[in-house]
Amino acid sequence: MCGIFAYTGNKGKNASTVLLDGLLSLEYRGYDSAGMYLPESGSVRSTGAVSMLRKKVPKNFKGHSGIAHLRWATHGEPTEKNAHPHQDCSGNVWVVHNGIIENFKELKVGLEANGHTFRSDSDTEVIAHLVEEHLKKTKDFEKAALKALREIRGTYGIALQYKKEPEMVIGARMGSPVVLGLGEGEHFIASDPSPILPHTRTVVFLEDGEVAVITPKKHTIHKLAGDPVKRKATRIDWSAEESQKGGYEHFMLKEIMEGPEVLQNTVRGRLLPDKGLAKLGGLESVTKQLARINRIIIVGCGTAYYAGLVGEYMLEEHVGIPVEVELGSEFRYRKPVINDRTIVLAISQSGETADTLEAIREAKRRGALALGIVNTVSSTIARTTDAGVYNHAGPEIGVASTKAFISQMTALALLTLFLGRQRASATPEQASASRRREMSVVEGRDIAHALQELPQKMQTILDNRKAIEKLAIKYAKSRDFLYIGRKYNYPIAFEGALKLKEISYIHAEGCGAGEMKHGSLAMIDEHFPTMAIVPADSVYDKMLSNIQQIKARKGPVIALASEGDTEVGKIADDVIYVPHTIEMLMPILNIIPLQLFAYYFAREKGLNVDRPRNLAKSVTVE
Ligand code: M6R
Repeated sequence: MCGIFAYTGNKGKNASTVLLDGLLSLEYRGYDSAGMYLPESGSVRSTGAVSMLRKKVPKNFKGHSGIAHLRWATHGEPTEKNAHPHQDCSGNVWVVHNGIIENFKELKVGLEANGHTFRSDSDTEVIAHLVEEHLKKTKDFEKAALKALREIRGTYGIALQYKKEPEMVIGARMGSPVVLGLGEGEHFIASDPSPILPHTRTVVFLEDGEVAVITPKKHTIHKLAGDPVKRKATRIDWSAEESQKGGYEHFMLKEIMEGPEVLQNTVRGRLLPDKGLAKLGGLESVTKQLARINRIIIVGCGTAYYAGLVGEYMLEEHVGIPVEVELGSEFRYRKPVINDRTIVLAISQSGETADTLEAIREAKRRGALALGIVNTVSSTIARTTDAGVYNHAGPEIGVASTKAFISQMTALALLTLFLGRQRASATPEQASASRRREMSVVEGRDIAHALQELPQKMQTILDNRKAIEKLAIKYAKSRDFLYIGRKYNYPIAFEGALKLKEISYIHAEGCGAGEMKHGSLAMIDEHFPTMAIVPADSVYDKMLSNIQQIKARKGPVIALASEGDTEVGKIADDVIYVPHTIEMLMPILNIIPLQLFAYYFAREKGLNVDRPRNLAKSVTVE
């Protein structure tokens, strides 16, 4: 999730100062590098935070307009070379971009054939060259930009500038937010209103497929096809901080609400639904090695560990490969039996968790192929592993991991599809060495199609969050909570309990529902509620009888059930209904109500949900 900011004005303000200050308020979106371009002064870029960029800005770096960017890497390492703004060959067209250009490889090949030379590994750079290409024919910047934008596939929030039209900035939106700020003699374009608010509270939000042109005196909006758009301006009453949270009270809620978008971003460009295949570019370099592996060890900590447990069920059931899941903190001190047919797969949002990192180093020392499912591009774990899959969840600010968990499970589903269908392309000798089960095209298609339907289904859960809020308030005086589930939802019981305990500080415990009778059931009485995850899956009947065992001890039960279930409501005290999907993807939907429940529960207790006591977002020490 990068941040863009652009300014044009005739009020005597120095664009460089306006842009640098604005970037600071976008830093919450994550950063690994930053940069800006002023037609009157040129460009400056730096790795690291805005403070690093500020140090590099020359004293005479001045102008009336400019574009700026904070980068959170997706394509290409977080280096100065890959930092935005990117330019065309002539140095006249400059662009900043938030999103992913899906067809950048095809476009780049065509442009290179036409003589364009690329300076970076970033997908964004094609935009500047495409505009340059069209400028050869039209000479009109606006027309050239529109033509270029029509050729791009993917997501973008963009600001473009042309040295020969220094007063003009062109902005465009497709899937990534863009807002215009309308001041007196000055206009702005940004990823959210926070950098605009110190200057004006009058804004216009662009919609997908819209292009805006700003100069100091006016703004116009068009559809990509060229039709003009009339949109009333909105007056923003939020503070800059509220605006960073997208109008939500906390980052945690904002990040839970981003779930459907995160799902789309993790899957984007990686599914061939009709062929029932997953395409994982990050694993291309190790495809041959993957065809002969016969064991997977997943390592992670906290939430990432629970994602790994979900992955264990997915991979064993659909790929037929033995999987073990280990806590990073335990694995690093064991003497694991590993050979060159073993994958050790690290899962980490931050990519910096010390225990997971050491586990991966240990695995490499013992000859394993080290893979990663990592959210932070070029983090230490991403650099230490041999290959991997990036989550593309965007930066997560709340200490409690929510959207990263969604993307970790989604990436594991993609990996399952990738490995399950890979056997078809492996040699018979490799296939028999790996002893894997072959996933049929039909099964592959079912998984791919179900994955495509998940964002919509997740949105319906989020739209009904009021009901979950009410339940959380009803139970907010509880001092203990048991979470139970089986099979795919066994890890979800643990993750649901972790969410509640880490932000509400009450005792919450996850338990395999079948395991209750071996101990945990002793805790149950009328003051000890249970969250039972009981979707319409292959262990539904078993879960119903586990709920009966709790009710027989007078324990209150909230059931998390599939829509259309008419049985569970007869025994549980409260029911949260969730849309149906295939069994292996159920955890991805089921965790959403549990994240919301934990959030509202902690908020009701008046706690600092985004920064729970004693915890850090990234645990870089043992
Ligand atoms: O950055 P990582 O995914 O490696 O972090 C792992 C855990 O520290 C993290 O998931 C932690 O458990 C969260 N606070 C859970 O919400």
